[in-house]
Amino acid sequence: MRLLKRCWLGQFLMFTIAVGSLGMVFLVSQLSTDWTPGFIPKYRWLEYTYDHSCPEKECNCSAILQGDREALEWAKIQAITKDVRKNIQIPDDHYINTTQDCRSFKLKRKYLMFPLSKEEEEFPLAYSIVVHHKVQNFERLLRAIYAPQNIYCVHVDKKSKASVSSAISAITSCFPNVFLASQAENVVYASWSRVQADLNCMADLYNASTKWKYFINLCGQDFPLKTNLEIVRMLRALRGRNSLESENLPPEKKWRVSYVHQIVDGRIQRTKKKKDPAPFNLPIMSGSAYIVVTRGYIRSVLEDQRIHALLEWFKDTYSPDEHLWATIQRISGVPGSKRPNRKYDVSDINAIARLVKWEAHEGSQDSMGAVYPECKGNHVRSICVYAAGDLQWLLEQDHLFANKFDVDTDPIAIYCLEKYLRQKALADWK
Ligand SMILES: *[C@@H]1O[C@H](CO)[C@@H](O)[C@H](O)[C@H]1NC(C)=O
Ligand SMILES: *[C@@H]1O[C@H](CO)[C@@H](O)[C@H](O)[C@H]1NC(C)=O
Ligand SMILES: *[C@@H]1O[C@H](CO)[C@@H](O)[C@H](O)[C@H]1NC(C)=O
Repeated sequence: MRLLKRCWLGQFLMFTIAVGSLGMVFLVSQLSTDWTPGFIPKYRWLEYTYDHSCPEKECNCSAILQGDREALEWAKIQAITKDVRKNIQIPDDHYINTTQDCRSFKLKRKYLMFPLSKEEEEFPLAYSIVVHHKVQNFERLLRAIYAPQNIYCVHVDKKSKASVSSAISAITSCFPNVFLASQAENVVYASWSRVQADLNCMADLYNASTKWKYFINLCGQDFPLKTNLEIVRMLRALRGRNSLESENLPPEKKWRVSYVHQIVDGRIQRTKKKKDPAPFNLPIMSGSAYIVVTRGYIRSVLEDQRIHALLEWFKDTYSPDEHLWATIQRISGVPGSKRPNRKYDVSDINAIARLVKWEAHEGSQDSMGAVYPECKGNHVRSICVYAAGDLQWLLEQDHLFANKFDVDTDPIAIYCLEKYLRQKALADWK
């Protein structure tokens, strides 16, 4: 490890000389305070220290993470302040301009360009990220999960604005291990195209590297709740099992898979035609579009003939993303899967893939029906978009990722979370 850190420091030194004297002064001050032979510098400068939405003098993220009332009140006011709102808008152009010089982009944005531990280096992950807008959310997500040993496939919706596609493409081109999906889909809400987008990335990731151990899919408005090291440790603790929601199909959702659906004018529509039962009479399960699965599960998806038949069958169902992965998880012989017996059902709360606050399940601790505390942000399609006030609860959960975050709703929630994760990653750096 020490050797690795030195190498990296060497690279940094060369780059800084190239950048000029200002950088040199900074480096010398780093060297004189932190770096003496045999002493490992702490790289304090890799911490996130400044944000328009959260000026260092007023913003106290540790108080916010502890649920301090005063700090949360301040954060709430800040999030609706005109000046702050103006400053958090970053035009797509900006990413195209700043990624012209990739080294400077990665340095300024403080991407971690070396593995923080051998343990992480030996346990690479594969990510599929689907995006259609809000480039800033995507870039901050990528920065939060980026590690050079992992690989990242990004699917940009075919109907995204040209400036969004260009900006995301420009960002990905700065990293050898981040690439665009070889095939882009026009994603129609609740239709098969959403599954196809992930399938395209699964095939690309599977083909791009044989090394990765687990696959995680994300969308542009997800954010991690754990550092890469914590993610690696939780995945190792799964000992080859998958972690995703997979439950008995509730009666009120049966229509989704018992009628043929079609796309009309860019929207999914139910027809009157009944569907045949699923191939091999496989029991259809209920779950989430977001999964944490082994490389073996992905191999089955790509190569198992039974699953090919199942994919075909799912193509004209409603929201196949919320049923397909959950159903595959209960097919015998699929690596990391579980028996279809109800006793093996896993809910979204017990899977570590994704934490989502559904509006209908929110409520106070003493309300019997409530699953989680009320959303402190606002709702989009009945899902909570988190505010700073949700962070304390989010970080108490076991999930690797939470949905949804949005800089436009609460920039401080993202800022305090990313700052916390970076500090933790650097503190755990052995
Ligand atoms: C931030 O909040 C924490 C916890 O409430 C407190 O201990 C600390 O002194 C505060 N820091 C500043 C700079 O106000
Ligand atoms: C990007 O660069 C172009 C050309 O130099 C310039 O016109 C534009 O204002 C820049 N955009 C941003 C957001 O910096
Ligand atoms: C895998 O990659 C090879 C070349 O690297 C290519 O020829 C092949 O078509 C790819 N397969 C898939 C399924 O993408």
